[in-house]
Amino acid sequence: MNTSSVVHIGINQYHGAQKLIGYSEQDRLRHMYMIGKTGVGKSTVYQNMCLQDIKNGEGICFIDPHGESIDWLLERIPANRLEDVILFDPSDDTFPFGLNLLEARTEQEKDFLVSECIQIFYKLFDPNKTGIIGPQFEHWLRNAALTVMAGPDGGSILEIPKLFIDPEFELRKRSYLTDPLVIEFWTKQMAKTSDFHKSEMLNYFMSKFGHFMNNSLMRNIIGQHRSSFTFDSLIHQKKILLVNLSKGKIGEMNAHMLGLILISKLQAAILKRANLAPSERHPFYLYVDEFQNFTTDTFISLLSESRKYGLGVHITNQYLAQLPEPIKDSVLGNVGTLVSFEVGIEDATILAKEFEPLQPHNFMGLPRFNFYIKLMINGKTSSAFSGIGLPPEASIGGSSTKENIQTLSRLAYGSPRLLVEERVNRQLQNL
Ligand SMILES: Nc1ncnc2c1ncn2[C@@H]1O[C@H](COP(=O)(O)OP(=O)(O)OP(=O)(O)O)[C@@H](O)[C@H]1O
Ligand SMILES: [Mg+2]
Repeated sequence: MNTSSVVHIGINQYHGAQKLIGYSEQDRLRHMYMIGKTGVGKSTVYQNMCLQDIKNGEGICFIDPHGESIDWLLERIPANRLEDVILFDPSDDTFPFGLNLLEARTEQEKDFLVSECIQIFYKLFDPNKTGIIGPQFEHWLRNAALTVMAGPDGGSILEIPKLFIDPEFELRKRSYLTDPLVIEFWTKQMAKTSDFHKSEMLNYFMSKFGHFMNNSLMRNIIGQHRSSFTFDSLIHQKKILLVNLSKGKIGEMNAHMLGLILISKLQAAILKRANLAPSERHPFYLYVDEFQNFTTDTFISLLSESRKYGLGVHITNQYLAQLPEPIKDSVLGNVGTLVSFEVGIEDATILAKEFEPLQPHNFMGLPRFNFYIKLMINGKTSSAFSGIGLPPEASIGGSSTKENIQTLSRLAYGSPRLLVEERVNRQLQNL
């Protein structure tokens, strides 16, 4: 298999000559960020690139908040890669996939995922850190999550509240603990906590977890102990993970939760790759549309260093005001390749500084599908030049390919709803 394939981002026209804009493996590990108003062709650029990756035999994950890019890709998967596709469509309630944030193999991974769990709760319930979630909640959540994970069967975040109302469950889980700090949390702190304070805390937990517990679709996915796939093997086997997070079908909060869990688990797997010999670390490519909804701060900091992990990230959104200030700075400062389609005056002013000597007006009147790019070439960012997106490729398989993949994925990765429901309800008994 060709391990250093180049993908094409678009076409550059210069003095009448047309040239494809190539983007090579090493440069892709420095990541790409794309911005532009609605309808200018952002998703199409990523769809086209991702399809090239798929044809080149690469491993990819595409997180799509609308579902249209996934549908587009599904109609174009070549026959030799059909069996590599994992289609995760949470709205398919007949064969729910399992996705357990708290499933970890090593102590290091446990700590990482618990920290991510806390960050996810901040992101969903207190994005501006106003105190809705504070150090007290963090402390309880950290210890409770580590306790739920203990033991041969592990546990899911949905069982966290159960620790505080089911003494038998609490004791059973505690019997597996080995970490002295977590043991002390129960034997010293919790033993002294009044029932009143405990029930206050429980209400607080329930107000956050209740949202996911009362929704059968989410319960059947994030309540399962075993995830349907692990990112370790997915990356190792160069699979194609297509995630349809269409909000209309599953609700915005649920879509964000699932995206955040997926990216946290992907990161946990990626971090472990630092131990692999570089020759074994073949690249894995991640595409995230409207990425601001699906990423925690850890992910953004990973952008500055994930080169050594063999992850190439492609992110996009419509305008910079959607991004909190530190994330905006970190993205603009850390990605190797920056692409801007037409934007409004505010973003044009900021982008002009990144794309010197271009001026704000250059970005404001760009025709559809046209962009400016600063491209990472052999480890160095180029000067700005212009490009135009490649038109979407014609479909090859139509809807029958999509249906075949849907069936294959359900059978290989999902479980029948009744079975899942029975198992998850048993785990959540007494809640
Ligand atoms: N280079 C191109 N040539 C022809 N048609 C294109 C090209 N690029 C995109 N399109 C078409 O333009 C439409 C909008 O493109 P796309 O969905 O990629 O925009 P977008 O920037 O992702 O918008 P949004 O921010 O709303 O998601 C689509 O129907 C797509 O097929
Ligand atoms: Mg789009």
